[in-house]
Amino acid sequence: MNAKIVGIGHYVPENIFTNNDLTQYMDTSDEWIQERTGIKERRYGTKHKETTTTMATKASTIALERAGLTAEDIDFIIFATLSPDFYFPGCGVLLQRELGITKTEIGALDIRNQCSGFIYGLSVADQFIKSGMYKNILLVGAEMHSMGLDFSTKGRGVTVIFGDGAGAAVLQASDNEEGILTTHLHSDGTHAEELACISPGSHGGIYHDEIDFGFEEQNKPGGIFVTKAMVQRDLLAPNMNGQLVFKTAVKKFPEVIMEALQATGLQSSNIDLFIPHQANLRIAKFVQKVLRLEDHQVFNNIQKYGNTTAASIPIAMSEAWEQGKLKSGDLLCLAAFGSGFTWGSALVRW
Ligand code: UT7
Repeated sequence: MNAKIVGIGHYVPENIFTNNDLTQYMDTSDEWIQERTGIKERRYGTKHKETTTTMATKASTIALERAGLTAEDIDFIIFATLSPDFYFPGCGVLLQRELGITKTEIGALDIRNQCSGFIYGLSVADQFIKSGMYKNILLVGAEMHSMGLDFSTKGRGVTVIFGDGAGAAVLQASDNEEGILTTHLHSDGTHAEELACISPGSHGGIYHDEIDFGFEEQNKPGGIFVTKAMVQRDLLAPNMNGQLVFKTAVKKFPEVIMEALQATGLQSSNIDLFIPHQANLRIAKFVQKVLRLEDHQVFNNIQKYGNTTAASIPIAMSEAWEQGKLKSGDLLCLAAFGSGFTWGSALVRW
C-alpha cells in the first residue's frame, strides 16, 4: 500500500501585519526584513478568538472536504506544532474534539519537530499506512506564533520572521504507484539551544549552570514549568543563532534532497515542484540554485505569510494545488530544516 495525499487545505488568519506595522513596536525596517528574508507581511491570529487548534480545524475541514471524506472516516490524527494551545495535552486531542470525532475514539499523536514537523508527520503517516494499520490519516501542521513572540527590539531577530497559520493533508491507502515515494529524517541535538524556547520546561537549569532558575520555587507544586526566575530573566521567548541556522540549513537541505533522489533513482530534473519549508527566501533560492531548478519548479509564499514553522509546507502545498501547480502524476519534492536541529525530505508522486 502507498500513502496518497487525497485532500489538502489551509487556513491563514485575516489579520495582515506588514513589515511597516512591526516598526511601531521594534527598531526594524521593511527594507531590512525584505532584504534578509524576502518577507513582506505575515498573518496573526486574533487573540482570545483563535488558537493553533481552531486554525487547524479550519484547514482540516477543507482538506477533508477536498478528499471527499468526513471527520468520522479518519482513523488517526497526527498534529505537528511548536505553539500548542496547552503545555499538555497536545493539540491532537483538541483537534479530534473540535472536529466532533466522538464515536470512533481514534488515536491522536503530537509531533514536536518544529520546522520539520510536517515532514516527520508525513513519514509517520506513510509507515502506518504501508504497514496496513490505518487507511485514512489526518496530518496537520499549525502554529499560533504571535502569542509567544517578543515584540520589543530585543526579540526582533526572531519575531519579524514568524507568522500564524495552519495546513492539513488527508493521507489514504492506495494500491496505485502514486503517493509518498520516500522520506528521510535526520537530527543533531548538539545544537538544541541554538534555535529554541527553553522555558517553560522541566530543565531546572541543568543544562545552563550559569543561570539560577530558582530551584526552591520549582519544588513547589505547579511551579515546575514556569518559575519567577524564568519570567524575570526573560527566558520565555524563543531565541535563535540565525547565522548558524542559516549556514547549516543551506548545507543540509541539498544533502537530504539528494538522499531522497538517490533512494528513488530520480534526478533533480525530474522534480515538477519543489516546496521548501518557508524559513527564508534566501535559503530557498540558494537550494534552488544548487539543485539547478528553474523558477517554475519551485513554490515560495514566505513573502505573504512569513515562516509558519510546521504549517509552512502544507500551506504552500495547498496554495500550489489551488493555483493548478500540482497536477496528477507530478513529482513533488518537500524538504525542511529547523530547530533541534532536525531536518528531512520527502518525494511524492501526486
Ligand atoms: O524555520 C526555522 C529555521 N530558521 C531559519 O532558517 C533562519 C535562518 N537564519 C536567517 O534567516 C537569518 O540569519 C536571519 C534573517 C535570522 C538574520 O539575518 P542575518 O543576515 O543572518 O543577520 P544577523 O543576525 O547577522 O544580523 C545582522 C544585523 C545585526 O546588527 P549589527 O550587529 O550588524 O549591527 C542585527 O542586530 O542586523 C541586525 N538585526 C536587525 N535589524 C533590523 C537583526 N534583526 C533585525 C531586524 N531588523 N529584525
